[in-house]
Amino acid sequence: MGTTEKIYFYPVWLRIWHGINALGIIILIITGISMQSSLDSPLIGFSLAVNLHNITGIVILLSYLFFFIGNIVTKNGKYYLIKAKGFFQNPIKQSVYYAWGMFHGSKPPFPLSQKRKFNPLQKYFYVLVMYIAVPIVIITGIALLFPELIIEEAYGFSGLFLTAILHSAVGFFISIFLIIHIYMSSIGKSPFDNFKSIISGWHHL
Ligand code: HEM
Repeated sequence: MGTTEKIYFYPVWLRIWHGINALGIIILIITGISMQSSLDSPLIGFSLAVNLHNITGIVILLSYLFFFIGNIVTKNGKYYLIKAKGFFQNPIKQSVYYAWGMFHGSKPPFPLSQKRKFNPLQKYFYVLVMYIAVPIVIITGIALLFPELIIEEAYGFSGLFLTAILHSAVGFFISIFLIIHIYMSSIGKSPFDNFKSIISGWHHL
């Protein structure tokens, strides 16, 4: 009949969180790289980069708490639950679809619906980023803001050094996630369809 079914996947609170988070993480990546740079003319001056990084880090902490609580008090959290059944098979099926099926006209193995907002691979990545990587970056970031909290030595290494390495490594992982996330978001009805969804709230099936 020419009409496409649409689902209201992204409520206002989630869209606000996502916007603040996306902008914040981009600022953190740019200022983080600037702080590591030893070039004479870095992207942003060192002290501006440090101040911006610290302030944005606190904004990301608050927005993360908003997301975390939002996922507990609304139904959105249920989309992040991983079941033991199909733990390995489902993401493999989805990967095969991305690598082969998608280019050969196969139907998606896990079509989205009111019950399923994410395909299995997407879900694993979102859980990994939102419940492991972002919390690690936030906790290590707070520790680096208050270095007196950090233990002096572990396994012969300075605690400060280990915390800084973990903070940068996981920050790097989030940067890679962001590139993959934006690319994967362009796979849909049309390249911009998912980007419109995260702004309007409505996802076209
Ligand atoms: C310019 C930056 C970004 C763009 C353009 C973008 C784009 C999108 C789009 C189009 C969606 C909806 C489609 C989907 O579920 O895949 C989405 C959802 C999502 N994004 Fe992003 N994103 C950005 C940054 C980020 C960052 C930095 C994170 C986390 C560190 C993130 C985490 C998420 C999560 C968890 C969802 C699912 C939310 C939910 O429905 O519960 N995004 N993003």
